[in-house]
Amino acid sequence: MSLHALFNPYTLGPYHLSHRVVLAPMTRTRADATTLAPSEQTVLYYAQRASLGGLLISEATHISPEATPSWTIYQNVRDDGGHVPGIWTDTQVNCWRAVCDAVHGKGALISCQLLHAGRVAQPGIGLHPLVIGTNAPLPPVSSSATALRPDVEAGDYNWDQPAVVPRALSIKDITRLIDDYRHAARNAQRAGFDCVELHAAHGYLIEQFFCDGINQRTDHYGGSIENRCRLFFDIVAALVDELGAGRVGVRLSPAGVDPSTGHYYQTYFGATTSDPDALYDYAVAGLNDFPLAYLMLTEPRVGALSVAPEADQSTKQPLRNRRFRALFKGCLIGAGGFIPMTAEQAVAEGHYDLIAFGRWFLANPDLPDRLRDGSPLNVYDRTTFYGCRSAGYIDYPDRHQLRGGGLSRYRLIDQAHMSLPRDASRR
Ligand SMILES: Cc1cc2nc3c(=O)[nH]c(=O)nc-3n(C[C@H](O)[C@H](O)[C@H](O)COP(=O)(O)O)c2cc1C
Repeated sequence: MSLHALFNPYTLGPYHLSHRVVLAPMTRTRADATTLAPSEQTVLYYAQRASLGGLLISEATHISPEATPSWTIYQNVRDDGGHVPGIWTDTQVNCWRAVCDAVHGKGALISCQLLHAGRVAQPGIGLHPLVIGTNAPLPPVSSSATALRPDVEAGDYNWDQPAVVPRALSIKDITRLIDDYRHAARNAQRAGFDCVELHAAHGYLIEQFFCDGINQRTDHYGGSIENRCRLFFDIVAALVDELGAGRVGVRLSPAGVDPSTGHYYQTYFGATTSDPDALYDYAVAGLNDFPLAYLMLTEPRVGALSVAPEADQSTKQPLRNRRFRALFKGCLIGAGGFIPMTAEQAVAEGHYDLIAFGRWFLANPDLPDRLRDGSPLNVYDRTTFYGCRSAGYIDYPDRHQLRGGGLSRYRLIDQAHMSLPRDASRR
C-alpha cells in the first residue's frame, strides 16, 4: 500500500506543508504542577513529533483559570497527578516559546489549540497557587446554569463526583471572555505559534452555547441557531482581528442523528441539541466569512476504550462529515479513527485536505516517515495517555532507535494488518 495523496505538498494560508499528516491536539496532563506551563519533557515530546513541512496542533491550552479543568476523571491523574497547561502568564508564554523553537528547529509548524472548558472545568483550580488570592474569575461557567449530570452525562468519563452548577455568563462576562481569548491569542503569537485553533468541539464552552440541551438563555446568545452561534463567531472574529488572515483554525465536532438507527451521535459531556444538522450547517457555512487557516472536523468514530487496535471496528465506519466539504471553502482537516489506508483514501477522494492522527501519532513520533515507508507502528498504551509520568510520553521509539536494537516496551503492528477486512481483523 503506498500513500501518495498523504505526501502531496499543500499550501496552508501563508505556509507550505510537505505532507498531509497532522498531529491531532491531545491533552497529556504533563504540564508543570507549579506553573501550569509546558515542561522540558513537553519540549521533547513535540520536537520528537516535528518533521520538515509538517503541522502539529498543541494539546488543549487554557486561556484563563476560569477555562481550566482538572482531569481527575482519569484514573492515572487520580493516582499520580497531572496538570494541563495555560497560556495566560508570562512564564507559560516563555515555556511555550521553547516548544515552538524546538518544533521550528525541525522545520515544522505548530498551532496552539485554545480551550475554555466551560462547565466541564470544576472549581478546584481556585486553590492553585497561581490563582489563589487573585481576582481571577473561577469555574464553572456556561451558557446557562445547567449542571453536568455526572451519572448520566459523563458516565463514559468515570465522572462520579457531583458537578457544581455553573454560573451563566452575563453579557459583561462575555465581553471579558472575548478579551481573554484575545489575550491568549496574543500570548500564543508572542510564544511563536504559527496559528491558533479555537476549540469549539467536544462539549466544552462553545458547544455549551451551541446546544439547546444546555443553552436556555433568552438574550441574543440563546434561542435561535443564529443566537446560539453568536459567541462562536464573536470569538472567531476577535481571533482573526488579533492574528490576521491564515493564522486562525477552528475545531468542530458536528453531531447528528444516524438515519439507520435513529441514535444521536458525537455527544460529549452531555452537549446535545434538538437540531444538530441545521446547527452545524449554519456554523460551518458562516466560517466562510473569515480568512481561516483551516477547519478541523472530528469524525465521531472513535474506538471503544477497552478495544485492542487490531479489533477496533470503529475505524471502518464511513465518514460522517462529507457534506461539509461543499459548505466550507477552505482547508478541511479530518480527525478521528483514521488508519493509514483510510487517511489516504479520504485525501485521495477529496473529502479532506489534511488528516490529523491522534493515538497513532502519540505512539509513533516519526509517524509521517513510517507512513511513507510502510514501517510497522508502535501500538499505543492507553494506560499512560494521561498522568504525569514520562513513560508513555517521551519513550515511544522512532524507527532509528528500533533499528539500532534499542529496547522497546511497545508492541509493533504491521500497517497492512490495520486495514484487513472485518472478519480477518478479529483473528
Ligand atoms: C490522550 C488524548 C487526548 C486528547 N485531547 C484532546 C484535546 O486536548 N483537544 C482535542 O481537540 N482533542 C483531543 N483528543 C481527541 C484527538 O484530537 C482525536 O480527535 C482523537 O484521538 C481521535 O483521533 P485518533 O483516532 O486518530 O486517535 C484527545 C485524544 C486523546 C487520545
